[in-house]
Amino acid sequence: MAVTKLLSLALFITFLGVVNNGRVEASHSVYPQLQSLTAVNVLQLHRTGFHFQPRKNWINAPMYFNGIYHFFYQYNPKGAVWGNVVWGHSVSKDMVNWEALEPPIYPSHRFDKNAAWSGSATILPNNKPIILYTGVDQNNRQVQNYAVPANFSDPYLRRWIKPARLNPVVEPDQGVNASAFRDPSTAWWLNRHWRMVVGSKRNHRGIAYLYRSRDFFHWVKAKHPLHSAPHTGMWECPDFYPVLLSGKQGLDTSVVGKHVKHVLKVSLDVTRYDYYTVGTYLTDKDRYLPDNTSADGWVGLRYDYGNFYASKTFFDPAKKRRVLWGWVNESDSTSDDVKKGWAGIQAIPRTVWLYPNQRQLMQWPIQELESLRGKKVKISHRKLMTGQRIEVKGISAAQVDVDVTFFIPSLDKVEPFNPSWSLTDAQLLCAKKGSKIQGGVGPFGLLALASENLEEYTPVFFRIFKTSIKHIVMLCSDARSSSLEDGLYKPSFAGFVNVDLADKKLSLRSLIDHSVVESFGGGGKTCITSRVYPTLALLENAHLHAFNNGSQTIVVENLDAWSMKKPVTMN
Ligand SMILES: *[C@@H]1O[C@H](CO)[C@@H](O)[C@H](O)[C@H]1NC(C)=O
Ligand SMILES: *[C@@H]1O[C@H](CO)[C@@H](O)[C@H](O)[C@H]1NC(C)=O
Ligand SMILES: *[C@@H]1O[C@H](CO)[C@@H](O)[C@H](O)[C@H]1NC(C)=O
Ligand SMILES: *[C@@H]1O[C@H](CO)[C@@H](O)[C@H](O)[C@H]1NC(C)=O
Ligand SMILES: *[C@@H]1O[C@H](CO)[C@@H](O)[C@H](O)[C@H]1NC(C)=O
Repeated sequence: MAVTKLLSLALFITFLGVVNNGRVEASHSVYPQLQSLTAVNVLQLHRTGFHFQPRKNWINAPMYFNGIYHFFYQYNPKGAVWGNVVWGHSVSKDMVNWEALEPPIYPSHRFDKNAAWSGSATILPNNKPIILYTGVDQNNRQVQNYAVPANFSDPYLRRWIKPARLNPVVEPDQGVNASAFRDPSTAWWLNRHWRMVVGSKRNHRGIAYLYRSRDFFHWVKAKHPLHSAPHTGMWECPDFYPVLLSGKQGLDTSVVGKHVKHVLKVSLDVTRYDYYTVGTYLTDKDRYLPDNTSADGWVGLRYDYGNFYASKTFFDPAKKRRVLWGWVNESDSTSDDVKKGWAGIQAIPRTVWLYPNQRQLMQWPIQELESLRGKKVKISHRKLMTGQRIEVKGISAAQVDVDVTFFIPSLDKVEPFNPSWSLTDAQLLCAKKGSKIQGGVGPFGLLALASENLEEYTPVFFRIFKTSIKHIVMLCSDARSSSLEDGLYKPSFAGFVNVDLADKKLSLRSLIDHSVVESFGGGGKTCITSRVYPTLALLENAHLHAFNNGSQTIVVENLDAWSMKKPVTMN
């Protein structure tokens, strides 16, 4: 399929890009020389098969309404100037097959003349959806606007209107930095008021400003932010929601009570990763207090320890679950993106719930993804001695869902954890230890997108360490050997997995899709998404193995791998 497309400006500006009085913020690179390029072929080479890939760039406002999942994103249909950035819109019945519709929101009025950026949807009590989004107004101020469907009887909610009389609904007041004031959250209802937060900063303090409204149109800033934290920089895309103390069920955003905890996620512009804390919503004070086991900022917990940013959750009342969706950027160069004609994919939607220890979330790919599973291969009770590999044959290794449980016969020879190593920076340790350096127990795991003679491979693996009191398990997704091509970003992404190993088992599921390896360690305790661009391990030349480079034997207790089909429609 040789599709010719205009290359959008939005492609080169991260989707929350800020043009501030003609200046552009450091973290939002603009490539003026590329902005006017047109007619670029869309290369299929590393294009993903079952990951949602937009025609263009991204914004996040997922929503469920009357049996349909909606996804809104940002792109530039004209591909020339910044002012054309609009909201794209796709709909789906299963979050696997998608249909693209016409752009529902685009800059048009004084309150969004210079941009229509990220926002969130809220379903009002009479089942009426409403969107709050950030507009950059005629004076280049970031303001918050609302939009409502033009026709509630249209099942796809194709057309949206932005009533000029009431917009903007929130303007930055004296104390708020009008150039750092964006991404209204989904609103929640409490004590006869709607509440929502907007991301911001003051000096280096990240802030989630709290606003209240009785009618959703007149908003008043609360005296205190919902939460803020020093030295964390700009907070983008704040997301605030309740989770049940026990069980996987999701909750409507307005639920409060003793049976829940709350989660606050912020996208930290400084590091470009999504961090969350678990804590308590003090409804009497209207403040959020993270638990003392949950740190703010970049020493804290991440949804994903790889490429994953600007995510949003929504409550899916049909399946009573909370679904998390994140944006996954490219790790190649912008000139590669020009050649490809596309950039950015969406991670597989994940169900999120609180782990029973109440200190972290669990994440798992939505069950609907399993409808794409095709041919299956199974491997059981196979020993992996030091240096051994088992190839998983008979599946399409470039487009596969693999789920493996390893059994660790002995933990006697576990490598000591050097006290000088950081417990908050697993990536550093992964870079030091990698998959080639023999440990005691581990490295063992999967070799994704491996070429025949292992010139290229992306290992996703565990290494186990011990301190005097406990075991420390690290999950790595190491892109350093993923491609023979130079000039790519090839990080050794890693996170620690909080497991006690009482059953001596570790599980790993990886969704491998041409240029993405999205992994879930420990049943979804630690997730890592890597973008990789093999030159040899392509299509039928890609291989998948289980491997062990530790001194101790590991058992593949069970491994299931399914070739993944492409969705019927996807854009
Ligand atoms: C509203 O949507 C319904 C269902 O698609 C359609 O029949 C009707 O004509 C629409 N009304 C307007 C005013 O567009
Ligand atoms: C307001 O935000 C802009 C954009 O991040 C920043 O450049 C500026 O320094 C901020 N102003 C103040 C007073 O903090
Ligand atoms: C993608 O995201 C990572 C992590 O935030 C960042 O280091 C990298 O520069 C980004 N790549 C591009 C091409 O924007
Ligand atoms: C953390 O909070 C819990 C109660 O929520 C308390 O029992 C514990 O002592 C606190 N730990 C620290 C280190 O403050
Ligand atoms: C396992 O270790 C050997 C020896 O260091 C190395 O050649 C090989 O590449 C390693 N395997 C992986 C998957 O890293």
